[in-house]
Amino acid sequence: MEKTALKIRIIGDPVLRKKSSSIKEVSNRHRDILSQMAQLMYEGDGVGLAAPQAGINEMMIVVDIGSGLYKLINPKVVDASGAQVNQEGCLSVPGICIKVKRAQRVRIKAQDEYGKNIDIKAEGLLACVLQHEIDHLKGKLITDYASFVEKIKINKALKKLNVKSCQLKL
Ligand code: NI
Repeated sequence: MEKTALKIRIIGDPVLRKKSSSIKEVSNRHRDILSQMAQLMYEGDGVGLAAPQAGINEMMIVVDIGSGLYKLINPKVVDASGAQVNQEGCLSVPGICIKVKRAQRVRIKAQDEYGKNIDIKAEGLLACVLQHEIDHLKGKLITDYASFVEKIKINKALKKLNVKSCQLKL
């Protein structure tokens, strides 16, 4: 496979904080972006990736927890129940792990890469990853779930990463 032109955006990049817009008509361009996103996810050993992480503020996510690849357009949580807590990482927040509480079960409505409506019922890890990726489409990152003490630790760790935002803070 050819190397993708897209690259993973790191915390501090404003694209990660913008709300993604919904996709009206699915085109070859979206299918191409979804393939490149899947490639980036696998290269980074990730289990999910949202379009803003590849620099694109449009509602697209890819997820693969080892049981098959999902390429979803305009994903939306329509039902959620129960609770689970996991230590989550994120390809856009390298080296950081944060405990996040999410619903145990979710029902997601979305379109596939050909614009066909799909309805997914997920639980456990798959439900967790889907909620994490949908957060990205709202401009939300795992660091937003951190406690005050965790946030101090995160800021120290991010300074070491030498990312854009930290250079500006110095
Ligand atoms: Ni993430």
